[in-house]
Amino acid sequence: MKIIKTPQNMQEYMLNIRKQHKKIGFVPTMGYFHEGHTSLMAKAREENDLVVTSIFVNPLQFGPSEDFETYPRNEERDCAIAEQFGVDILFIPRTEDMYPNELSISMQVQKRAGVLCGRSRPGHFDGVVVVLAKLFNLILPDNVYFGMKDAQQVAVVKGLIDDFNFPIKLIGMPTVREKNGLAKSSRNVYLNQEEQKEALWLYKALLHAHQLIVDGEKNPNVIIKEVKSIVTTNTSAIIDYVELLNYPALEPVQQIDSLVIVAIAAKFKQARLIDNILIDKDGNIVNSLQ
Ligand code: PAJ
Repeated sequence: MKIIKTPQNMQEYMLNIRKQHKKIGFVPTMGYFHEGHTSLMAKAREENDLVVTSIFVNPLQFGPSEDFETYPRNEERDCAIAEQFGVDILFIPRTEDMYPNELSISMQVQKRAGVLCGRSRPGHFDGVVVVLAKLFNLILPDNVYFGMKDAQQVAVVKGLIDDFNFPIKLIGMPTVREKNGLAKSSRNVYLNQEEQKEALWLYKALLHAHQLIVDGEKNPNVIIKEVKSIVTTNTSAIIDYVELLNYPALEPVQQIDSLVIVAIAAKFKQARLIDNILIDKDGNIVNSLQ
């Protein structure tokens, strides 16, 4: 595995690789790998000739009171894991090389960002699309792999790719969970033992939402109310949001008759966790998107 540290070297290297007509798969990350990340690397390995992963904790997507400084980092361990999962190139740029000057152009996500995490984290998705536009231009991938755990991010990235004609295929991969159902997250390390047990109720509540829809419930408000009640009854977390929207447009629905997302964010003492479930009009759970 090759480690590349500067944007210039990364782009030069990939411009050469592209001349060899290799299929390039890219997995952008902020590191501190868990099975969610490695599932993306494994899929990229299957579908491409060359796999690039980036580790970059992007300051632009963190709010002033968020955890940029304390975001968990372990570069050495991440390198070993990436190598084990067949990553060919690991791109680990420094902040000052990614953002050497104040940006002269800003990007503002107009759609799909005023709900869910976009509402609770103003500016977050603006920072995500800036870094991804840069990474796409440095790595020049054919395929990019994202986790559906961050389904809103996938919807926003779809907008970025479509709006700016990036010649890239977006693949949304299933959420990887602990045995008890808790979605894997780098931030799970912030949970104490009691909270770890409580946190699995987030997914249980989403599965209950699914069951309600299977049983014929069509009213989003009824479903949202029940999900909230399960989480408040069984955990010490403070609910940030529970929303039911169509997907990927992320608009409110009156009736459940299209692909919908039921999404939740809840704050434990040290960690804000998110989870979601996608359900199609026939009541089937949708785990991945091509
Ligand atoms: P990060 O949180 O490190 O996540 C990197 C990728 O791993 C994302 O596509 C995310 O959805 C996916 N992922 C995280 N947990 C997962 C799980 N339990 N199952 C499946 N996939 C999972 O998301 C980001 O970084 C950043 O916003 C980034 C896209 C790198 C831009 O800075």
